[in-house]
Amino acid sequence: MTFPNTPFTIGPLQVSNSLVMAPLHEITDQPFRKFIREIGGPGLVVSEMISSEALIRHARKAEQMMASSGEHPYAMQLSGGNPQSLAEGARLCEEAGADLVDLNMGCPASNVTKGGAGSALLRDIRLAEACVKAMVKAVQVPVTVKMRAGWDASQKERAEFLDFLRMFEANGVQSLAIHPRTRAQGYEGHADWAIIARAVDAGTSYPIIGNGDVVQVQDAFRMSEETGCAAVMIGRGALYNPFIFRQVLDPEFIVTTEMRVDATLRFFRILLELLEPREALHKIKKIGSWFTKGIPGGSGFRQNLHACNDPEQLLADLEALKHQQVA
Ligand SMILES: Cc1cc2nc3c(=O)[nH]c(=O)nc-3n(C[C@H](O)[C@H](O)[C@H](O)COP(=O)(O)O)c2cc1C
Repeated sequence: MTFPNTPFTIGPLQVSNSLVMAPLHEITDQPFRKFIREIGGPGLVVSEMISSEALIRHARKAEQMMASSGEHPYAMQLSGGNPQSLAEGARLCEEAGADLVDLNMGCPASNVTKGGAGSALLRDIRLAEACVKAMVKAVQVPVTVKMRAGWDASQKERAEFLDFLRMFEANGVQSLAIHPRTRAQGYEGHADWAIIARAVDAGTSYPIIGNGDVVQVQDAFRMSEETGCAAVMIGRGALYNPFIFRQVLDPEFIVTTEMRVDATLRFFRILLELLEPREALHKIKKIGSWFTKGIPGGSGFRQNLHACNDPEQLLADLEALKHQQVA
């Protein structure tokens, strides 16, 4: 079997194919994960990052982020920079049903890095080691990491990420996702897939998951070929096109405009089913506009989307948009 139909393993966990939905803060929450699984495709879907500090304080929002619709395998991602809090957070995730717990070593946002979390851990390999060690010790489920290529260009040039790879191996990390931009780059420039290839060449005992700039179906095949990664992780590409995983699995799979409107309708309904009305409306407004980009009549819908505060009206508008396509 060849990419993307190759299962891969994360410790004892078997993932059915080599496609992963990336963690996206305020996006890959319970409704989005339910939606993307219904559409089908990714073998693994990762939660948005959950602050370990908020979790151990039992902050309501952090606890809600752990909710799942019975999905498996379910990966929960933690952010934090304190080993004890991360260990306790990992334990809470395991208790809540996580099949694996991931540590965020990539977030570039200053409100995260100033607390020593996210990509700030890339500046302190000893602290990063204490964090993964504490997590691995705290839970039975696999602990995984998602990282950037380094804090800045000079750290990337010194290839310090390779020291991290070895450190992860020595401490029982069971898979690593690499988004090969530096923290300094934010989302600018391009993801340097050569870093993913170097990580694969390092021959770690755990699988390397490649990530970054997979927007079109062909990009996924190209990343697999050029880097040899065990799996391809897609983030923003799935927001422009939630069918992207299906299309990578079957390049003959045709997505019609009607299917896109139906998917948007379904997503809105899941949001209304799982969230409180105000929150559902906020998410509908935030995400709904992405899914309808490029659809004939879509711009009129998006204008109403921002002005309208009645979800039922928005559902009716989408039905009308659908009929417009069929007519
Ligand atoms: C809106 C947004 C939210 C993100 N939230 C997270 C997060 O919670 N945890 C994480 O590890 N990465 C997060 N990322 C990074 C993505 O997981 C991914 O590494 C990055 O977008 C590159 O992949 P892509 O080009 O396929 O989008 C986020 C990215 C975006 C754009």
